Amino acid sequence: MSEGIPNLAELERIVSEAQSRFSAASTIDELRSAKTAHLGESSEIALANRGIAALPREDRKDAGQAIGAARAAITAAFAAREAQVEVAEIEARLVSEAVDMTLPVTMHPVGALHPLTALFYDMCDVFIAMGWEVAEGPEAEAEWLNFDALNFTPEHPARFLSDTLFLDPIQDRRILRTHTSPVQMRTLLTRELPVYIVVPGKVYRADEYDATHLPVFHQLEGLAVDKGLGMADLKGTLDHLAKAMFGADTRTRLRPHYFPFTEPSAEIDIACFVCHGESVGNPARPCRTCRSEGWIEWGGCGVVNPRVLAAAGIDTDVYSGFAFGMGVDRTVMFRNNASDLRDFAEGDQRFARQLMGVAR
Ligand code: DAH
Repeated sequence: MSEGIPNLAELERIVSEAQSRFSAASTIDELRSAKTAHLGESSEIALANRGIAALPREDRKDAGQAIGAARAAITAAFAAREAQVEVAEIEARLVSEAVDMTLPVTMHPVGALHPLTALFYDMCDVFIAMGWEVAEGPEAEAEWLNFDALNFTPEHPARFLSDTLFLDPIQDRRILRTHTSPVQMRTLLTRELPVYIVVPGKVYRADEYDATHLPVFHQLEGLAVDKGLGMADLKGTLDHLAKAMFGADTRTRLRPHYFPFTEPSAEIDIACFVCHGESVGNPARPCRTCRSEGWIEWGGCGVVNPRVLAAAGIDTDVYSGFAFGMGVDRTVMFRNNASDLRDFAEGDQRFARQLMGVAR
């Protein structure tokens, strides 16, 4: 062969160099660059192929056959190695991405909703379903909103230091709210009428910490102000809530009472859903839940005192309303048979899980 065109020995070297470079490639990327070097446009074999045209006519056939055979050998070596590398890569991936199902894992407990939080959600849902809104207010509250705006007289005993926790400095007249009722006034001062709100929240009183008292406890407040609302609307609303909380056959009763911010006022009782009144006057079958009284005290309620509405600048000839507030800790106790209020404050998840297992 003439100059510039490889002879047979050189072709053999070209082929074997390509083969060993291909076999040395262990990844698809390496193999690709080896292909460019040994089969690409400027590879020795490609140059040789292009050189054929320049040969004298009688030499072209032999040279063409030799170079073509060499090129076919290189192409075959590439294809064979490509198949091997692909399989090897897949196998390596299967090994490296394998999940060992038998390895021990660390279990992180996910925690539990506090039973009071869960009950707040449930109670608020009953009202949200009727189109009411949820409102909130601060726990550190102005004495004026907690008492004066709700028609408590300046000498009302609830204001005493023995009942109410005042914040320093005392002349600021700020307290830890003793009930959720101050949110009534906050709402009336900030929202458009009509108003239908429920207020879940924490309240504080200077109480002992024992099985039946906590210095911090929880209330659900309700307030509706609209045209023509009265006692019947209140009773219907509370009946609905009681049935949703304690079951469809639950009965309620209103007992006359006094609150400065409602007139008339009442306390609401629910018929004992444990003994259904059968323990009353029946010492043989005492009931712990209602203390054999047949009824359980649930909360306070009434028709909003027009003085409260007037203090918020509302025309009491046009608007009236009803309000209620009940102890949520008590509600959990009744519903779930919890007997010691301190369990609510200790933060032991086993308590939460046990109650939730019953309640939800
Ligand atoms: N705030 C009262 C309390 O803590 C409960 C209460 C009574 C709330 C009557 C009301 C109501 O909204 O109308 O004892």
